[in-house]
Amino acid sequence: MTQVISVVQEKGGAGKTTLLTAIASLMVQDGARIAVIDTDPQRHLEAWAKKEQTDLDWLYEEDDEKLIPTVKALKKADPAYDAIFVDTAGFKSAMAMHAIAAANLILIPSKANEADAKGAKRTFSHVQSVAETMEKEIPALVVMMDVDTQTNITQAIVDALDAQNVPRLNAMCAHRTGFKEMTSTGQAPQGSARRSAQSVLADLQGRGLLGFYRSGSWPKSA
Ligand SMILES: Nc1ncnc2c1ncn2[C@@H]1O[C@H](COP(=O)(O)OP(=O)(O)OP(=O)(O)O)[C@@H](O)[C@H]1O
Ligand SMILES: [Mg+2]
Repeated sequence: MTQVISVVQEKGGAGKTTLLTAIASLMVQDGARIAVIDTDPQRHLEAWAKKEQTDLDWLYEEDDEKLIPTVKALKKADPAYDAIFVDTAGFKSAMAMHAIAAANLILIPSKANEADAKGAKRTFSHVQSVAETMEKEIPALVVMMDVDTQTNITQAIVDALDAQNVPRLNAMCAHRTGFKEMTSTGQAPQGSARRSAQSVLADLQGRGLLGFYRSGSWPKSA
């Protein structure tokens, strides 16, 4: 079954597009069939995908009322997509609400600063209210981005999120130039950024949150 993964955070610049492109491109390398939908008028995701260095399908959707029909149409693709990723703009919007409603997994990136952590908490509450309204379970997890794990601020932010019972991955995307380079290469992260993104993917996999790795379609050769 096609999984829909939306990356949402109402504070801008927290690492949504970076997280999405890193995870999606690593899944492509594992043999997953992936589509990505950019809903952000800045079109950063589309700019990365357009370089065609990563074998996935992409589209841009600007009309919030068309997002769910678009996702439904992609879910009917043959051969089926293993996952559809939805990138959103960095503010609370009708589009973000539709992206949450369309998803069965939400990732909420947050850098290790107070503004991002507050945005992550608010975004998590927003996901909970959409899930309650729809009477649907939508797992949502914060993913710490651009972190230097050795710093006190990282620990303080993580402790604050934990104290507020905001669920998060243990694995984090470290501060690595390789993540910045993805924007110009259109590829998956390289070097130590790749290892860091792989730890995040492994954490998601270990929690059984990624249908592709549960379904027996992976490893591709098996
Ligand atoms: N792990 C990381 N290491 C280094 N730089 C990072 C990392 N994660 C994010 N960044 C940088 O932070 C900036 C913002 O990231 P990104 O564009 O992914 O955020 P965003 O949430 O998509 O922003 P917007 O709200 O504008 O869409 C970018 O310059 C990106 O390269
Ligand atoms: Mg973005």
